[in-house]
Amino acid sequence: MQLTNHLDHDYLRQALEHDVRTGLASTPKWLPPKWFYDAAGSDLFSQITRLPEYYPTRRELAILRERAADVAARCGADNLVELGSGTSEKTVLLLDALAPRTYTPVDVDAVTLGEAAERLTARYPGLVVEPVCADFEQHLALLPRTGRRMVAFLGGTIGNLAPAAREVFLKELRSTLRPGETLLLGADLVKDTGRLVAAYDDAAGVTAAFNRNVLRVIDRELDADFDPDAFDHVAIYDERHDWIEMRLRATRAMDVRVRALGLAVSFAAGEEMRTEISAKFTREGLTAELVAAGFTVDRWYTDPAGDFSLVLARV
Ligand code: SAH
Ligand code: AVI
Repeated sequence: MQLTNHLDHDYLRQALEHDVRTGLASTPKWLPPKWFYDAAGSDLFSQITRLPEYYPTRRELAILRERAADVAARCGADNLVELGSGTSEKTVLLLDALAPRTYTPVDVDAVTLGEAAERLTARYPGLVVEPVCADFEQHLALLPRTGRRMVAFLGGTIGNLAPAAREVFLKELRSTLRPGETLLLGADLVKDTGRLVAAYDDAAGVTAAFNRNVLRVIDRELDADFDPDAFDHVAIYDERHDWIEMRLRATRAMDVRVRALGLAVSFAAGEEMRTEISAKFTREGLTAELVAAGFTVDRWYTDPAGDFSLVLARV
């Protein structure tokens, strides 16, 4: 098993520098969610998936248990490409049903990606596992084109892209797929606000630690002096946009230095910086986005509680 790395250290470093410069100079300040995921951030995300308040992973697993065989029969793929694969825990249900020749997990976190690839290589001796460390917003055109592919994008990670970025992403993905290839897309659905907020502001404080982890990443990588404990975790539901917004709120006025960029950034007491959106979808809305990008929706699977959907789309 060999890891293809589109994210060498220089690329990652430049991308982080660009995002931090741009985001911290904006009003209001923001940081993109992909920088949550170093090894510690991926581990915190895994803990989130097991929290009682965080329903999406359990709901998506339930759909996969019921429907993976149907998905496999319909897509007939022999290369399962998974974007934002993380620990690939749910993927085993697809691998069991599909029995593809090749599995191509794609993630920005090289450590978690490598560990997952090793685990799956050991578990499925006949499977060719070809992990690719890449940014799915930058490198879709570079993904391997071996065999007939199904691209899985699970967990609702599509919702972490802002609408304009989502439109670009779906169009680019569509243009890399050939006739007969498919997309299996996980999407969290609009629901009761209280449940949504609880899912992103859990009682044990794991999501708060995940949120603050982006500051630890910037401290380490860019020699900054953010004090993560000086920021409160904030999760609100924006009903106008139908998305959860996670923010970090400065508990006091402070100046932060980002030495590697020669930057000094001031925060006012109470100032909030956006770190993630997590969009929630309706069937009509997401179908329209997929159709606008050139996909045809083949199957729409929803869990019995109506919380989460998996959409099988083709080109
Ligand atoms: N698919 C898994 C993990 C979801 S967490 C699940 O459903 O549980 C989101 C994953 O996407 C993380 O592993 C993170 O490292 C990865 N990720 C986030 N932004 C990314 C990007 N721009 N390109 C590639 N991977 C990304
Ligand atoms: C990865 N992604 C789908 C998660 C979500 O629910 O938006 C990330 C997350 N953020 C906070 N909790 C989980």
